[in-house]
Amino acid sequence: MRKKEFQIFSGTGNRKVADRICKYLDLPMSRAEISRFPDGEIDVKIQDDVRGSDVFLVQSTCPPVNENLMELLILMDALRRASADRITAVIPYFGYARQDRKAEGRVPISAKLVANLITKAGADRVLTMDLHAAQIQGFFDIPVDHLYAAPVLLDYFKKKDLGKVCVLCCDVGGAKMARAYAKRLGGAPLAIIDKRRTGPSETEVAEVIGTVEGHDVVVVDDMISTGTSIAEAAKVARERGARSVRMCATHAVLCGKALEKIEASKVEELVVTDTVPLNGKERPFIIQLTVAELLAEAIRRIHKSESISSLFS
Ligand code: R5P
Repeated sequence: MRKKEFQIFSGTGNRKVADRICKYLDLPMSRAEISRFPDGEIDVKIQDDVRGSDVFLVQSTCPPVNENLMELLILMDALRRASADRITAVIPYFGYARQDRKAEGRVPISAKLVANLITKAGADRVLTMDLHAAQIQGFFDIPVDHLYAAPVLLDYFKKKDLGKVCVLCCDVGGAKMARAYAKRLGGAPLAIIDKRRTGPSETEVAEVIGTVEGHDVVVVDDMISTGTSIAEAAKVARERGARSVRMCATHAVLCGKALEKIEASKVEELVVTDTVPLNGKERPFIIQLTVAELLAEAIRRIHKSESISSLFS
């Protein structure tokens, strides 16, 4: 039988967001010792009793991706073997999401493999945010609650009271998300970049569909990895006469030379969330907003079996 209380644990992938979640819920973080064996293997010891508890384990699978993923799996295994009644994997940023189909022959569908691993390790449910492709929910045969960072990001831009806004989407795949942003920014016009990927970190802008000239452009994307897509979009917006250019993305993975590329694109600001920790990549032009309240509220509602979708209505 399940105990009444719920417990929050965290891996080392994004401890800051886990702390903020606990603060919002006014709950101490439950303790797990995470260390490494001399050969680099992960060692875990759950220090608090979890028998019969409703457990929420917070871990973003951001870089170092494989370390964080493996930590998540091993922590869940330990929690399951310690007789937790239910385990919810809270994954603010779900890595490997872009490998969600066979884009060519003889390649894996890693997003599906990761979903299988998470389920097999012991997750009863998943709580995540802005999956690269919403249909990844279907890779799991357990319930997935999929949250959106949009309310947090949009609130910021609404308060800024920008002049003549235009939402610019980095590629056709992100058009649905960008359209939703444009609608909520007072029905702002939408422009879309027709992007061609020429390599893992190289893209080429073929065309801009829509008008950015004379507008205060907000470039939106779900994630920034190498920064190529968003920096290219910002550059094109400027070349086409944008009055100002801002960037906005949920997941600031910011790997490789992403920061340099964004700095060089001279945007007014880059607005991101804390689904991925900045870990030394803080810059004056980066505004990091927290999604901890949203995640915390979703955790509370899952525990109480209350509606999650009403969080967004
Ligand atoms: C593309 O499908 C995504 O929405 C992002 O635009 C892309 O993954 C970002 O990658 P990068 O920052 O390396 O261009």
